[in-house]
Amino acid sequence: MYFSQGSCSNMNCATFMVVTASLLSWADAFHHHSNKGKEKDLQYLVEPPVYAEVTARRGQNITLPCVMRTKPPHYRVKWTKVDPLRRGVENIILISNGHADKHYGVLGPRASLRRAHALDLSLLLFGLQLEDDGQYRCELINGIDDESVDITLRIEGIVFPYQSSRGRYKLTYVDAKDACAKQDGTLATYMQLYRAWTEGLDWCNAGWLNDGTVHYPILHPRPACGGDLLPGIRSYGPRHKTQEHYDAFCFTSTTEGLVFYVPGLLNFSEALNACRKERANLARVGQLYSSWKFLRLDRCDGGWLQDGSVRFPITTPRERCGGISEPGVHSFGFPSQGLRLYGAYCYR
Ligand SMILES: *[C@@H]1O[C@H](CO)[C@@H](O)[C@H](O)[C@H]1NC(C)=O
Ligand SMILES: *[C@@H]1O[C@H](CO)[C@@H](O)[C@H](O)[C@H]1NC(C)=O
Repeated sequence: MYFSQGSCSNMNCATFMVVTASLLSWADAFHHHSNKGKEKDLQYLVEPPVYAEVTARRGQNITLPCVMRTKPPHYRVKWTKVDPLRRGVENIILISNGHADKHYGVLGPRASLRRAHALDLSLLLFGLQLEDDGQYRCELINGIDDESVDITLRIEGIVFPYQSSRGRYKLTYVDAKDACAKQDGTLATYMQLYRAWTEGLDWCNAGWLNDGTVHYPILHPRPACGGDLLPGIRSYGPRHKTQEHYDAFCFTSTTEGLVFYVPGLLNFSEALNACRKERANLARVGQLYSSWKFLRLDRCDGGWLQDGSVRFPITTPRERCGGISEPGVHSFGFPSQGLRLYGAYCYR
């Protein structure tokens, strides 16, 4: 799948390959959609791709459509989630014989059949979580010719790079996974990173993705970032999960609460207290990114976050805001916790 794994582990090394991101993802998408059912004509199920992809945010309820053309005399319907990291493992969500439904796994309790009409096999999913992103399969089992259609659920969100407070390239795969969870996110998938790249993410440090590969997205090739290779998602391929260290690409989506700024010249513990006084907590990095992306939070003041970093979110770039011209969440890194220079970003 990867053209080259390279053997370099620092950014000055230029032997790794540009993965032609668009090629890879289309090849991937094609592979997924050419699954089963597509090879023969579907007799009973209505084919995608009218709704081959459904998009929603964390916390929302959605419907994954699956409709019969005609009803077989006897049938069962089985909904599964396809896990690209564990091919061959079937993650059953729900099985119904038309009368009784059985729910399975982590998704089962949040799933039910819509049954809007006699031919409706669509699946309702409640309270979407970041991990729900992925591919789902509706399978009609009628004893002779089983049929299935695949639907992709895409959680709308934002990818953010994350670095340890100990510096660049300090995270194993498991550390990276934990770090994202602590910042209210998950490790990003390749598709999430790819989409973020098309939306403008350019980042010169390599980070873990959830499939155990390491990549970084470059829009503006420059000598320090792999030289004059083409723009694209640069790949180190799969890396050793416990012995190698990189940064992380995390993914998050909408939040239930709100991020707000408390002004002041506070050290870190004063910032903690300032938020507590507001019956809030210091915000996590993912929560700040989420507010920036979905609520257009714009503030020209550095503030402490829960991990000890200091950041500020800019949606409308302006001259007197550090002279920074790009919209984004900007970082002062992890300053000494005694410094009294910043306010606090709180989350409630
Ligand atoms: C999702 O569905 C549940 C149960 O029907 C409902 O209580 C909740 O308000 C819905 N949430 C959203 C965001 O629509
Ligand atoms: C922050 O300031 C408080 C006094 O307001 C002080 O007690 C505390 O030690 C300071 N924290 C750090 C990390 O310097």
